[in-house]
Amino acid sequence: MTDLDNFIAGLPKAELHLHIEGSLEPELMFALAERNGVAIPFASVEDVRAAYDFSNLQDFLDIYYAGANVLLTRADFHDLAMAYFQRAAADGVVHAELMFDPQTHTDRGVPFEEVIEGLLSAMAVAEAEYGITSALILSFLRHLSEEAAFATLAMAGPWLDRIAAVGLDSSEVGHPPSKFARVFAAARQKGLKITAHAGEEGPPEYVYEALDLLHVERIDHGNRALENPALIERLASEGMTLTVCPLSNLKLCVVSDLTDHPVDKMLALGLKATINSDDPAYFGGYVADNYRAVAKARGLSRNDLVQLARNSFTGSFLPPEAILANIEKLDAYAAG
Ligand code: ADE
Ligand code: ZN
Repeated sequence: MTDLDNFIAGLPKAELHLHIEGSLEPELMFALAERNGVAIPFASVEDVRAAYDFSNLQDFLDIYYAGANVLLTRADFHDLAMAYFQRAAADGVVHAELMFDPQTHTDRGVPFEEVIEGLLSAMAVAEAEYGITSALILSFLRHLSEEAAFATLAMAGPWLDRIAAVGLDSSEVGHPPSKFARVFAAARQKGLKITAHAGEEGPPEYVYEALDLLHVERIDHGNRALENPALIERLASEGMTLTVCPLSNLKLCVVSDLTDHPVDKMLALGLKATINSDDPAYFGGYVADNYRAVAKARGLSRNDLVQLARNSFTGSFLPPEAILANIEKLDAYAAG
């Protein structure tokens, strides 16, 4: 490990864009398949990894939803989240905001309660064992209907005080934020915070819709906002957080090479970029791997890395006092 690798591992950071189902490593997929008697279309762990060769978002989503079939009980969701928190702790994560896709599970007959209680119990252990605070983001699948999203929001009713925000993920093109304007308005009325994937594969117009129709407090990805100077100006002046995912962008061909990754351009434009892993088991690295890969490819300075970590706290859904406490930790670390 170089000095920079060590600096990144120790850098206190928040992870704001992490799909917990996307942290399902092939080894755990096999273990859960066996535990639950679920058949999977792979002969070995190597076979699974070999299938992770994607040309676009949909290629990945097809495999990601198939992998999630092994998750059935609250113990499975607990084990899945604990495996993530263990990696996060080693990566200097002190706060994580976990997206979960209830519809991927409830549509297979897994009760919402099993999913969320398994995640919540792991979150409690993570705080006690690793000192990692965490929050949940309930994400609606955008390839499904708004009516289905409303049904999911209703299912979440008894747990609303344990859910920080709602999000929007899955196949972006053809499923604009406008399709979900009413369900996001209902979620806002319930006091939930709002985020949405926009501008990963979809055009800048989808980012405008996320801002104007969903009233997002963060944009997940946002890469294609860079195509529109007026949008850049607006995102910068509003201090909108972008949850950028470099290794995801590489694996899903959003960028053709990490040396072309725009994260430092975003910072230079005054955009509040953060670094995240998205679906680490599928994209070849956890959050510190993402910092390292993009730092090397783009020659980021320690100041850039500290700025990205600072943005991860100020862009989080933590209360102001917790943000301040984390920033103090970060400043003390950066001062050496
Ligand atoms: N679901 C899991 N990862 C995703 C991504 N990067 N984009 C859209 N939906 C997702
Ligand atoms: Zn994502």
